[in-house]
Amino acid sequence: MKKILVTIDGPAGAGKTTVSRAVALELGYTYVDTGALYRGLAVIVNQKGVDPNDDEALAAVCKELELSLIPEEDKTRVIANGEDITDKLRTPEISMTASAVSARPLVREWLLGIQREFGEKGGAVFEGRDMGTVVFPNAEAKFFLHADPNIRARRRHQELLEKGLAVTEEDVAKDMEKRDKDDSSRAVAPLKPAEDAILVDSSQLNIEEAVWVILDWVKKKLK
Ligand code: DC
Repeated sequence: MKKILVTIDGPAGAGKTTVSRAVALELGYTYVDTGALYRGLAVIVNQKGVDPNDDEALAAVCKELELSLIPEEDKTRVIANGEDITDKLRTPEISMTASAVSARPLVREWLLGIQREFGEKGGAVFEGRDMGTVVFPNAEAKFFLHADPNIRARRRHQELLEKGLAVTEEDVAKDMEKRDKDDSSRAVAPLKPAEDAILVDSSQLNIEEAVWVILDWVKKKLK
């Protein structure tokens, strides 16, 4: 059977990660979490105390940084210059720094080549913000997964609680609103659906249903 590229974009907390991983598993495709690349860079930027708006310092960090992604059943491992930084990726602080560095054109340019290399062989599900619009404009199956902001904040809050992080739902909602606004209004590769993306609203769907909707479309493309 032919192998295609599937892109799943959308705002934080819409269920992209769980849905993308399940779609990839079902198709026997590679799953690529591109947010993990921005988060990986954010960890190093914070460790070095670099200002995300300082392009010169950011360029120096990118030049010396080698990031690899290792998809596992329940998470994506991120290795930065040989060090496993997976456990540091998913904090509210790193979410905000990842969003800030992702607005810098030089960072997007640096990661563009890396992401396209991952997609060269086809047979992959890419999750992110600009997969269908910028990184893989010719992808055969594009989706934009979104949901009501209150529902997304509730889900993300639950996720963080399960990880043992003491945060309030109100703070999660505030952070999410800022991040969505920044990600959608940045000049380069803003978060938005590709013109040919299928919109999937996960507000009233559970994970299995969202996966089913996407697989149904993908299977039509594979015929
Ligand atoms: O999907 P995520 O929450 O792990 O992504 C973290 C941040 O990285 C997000 O707020 C914006 C940025 N990002 C991006 O700009 N483009 C992508 N393809 C993926 C993530």
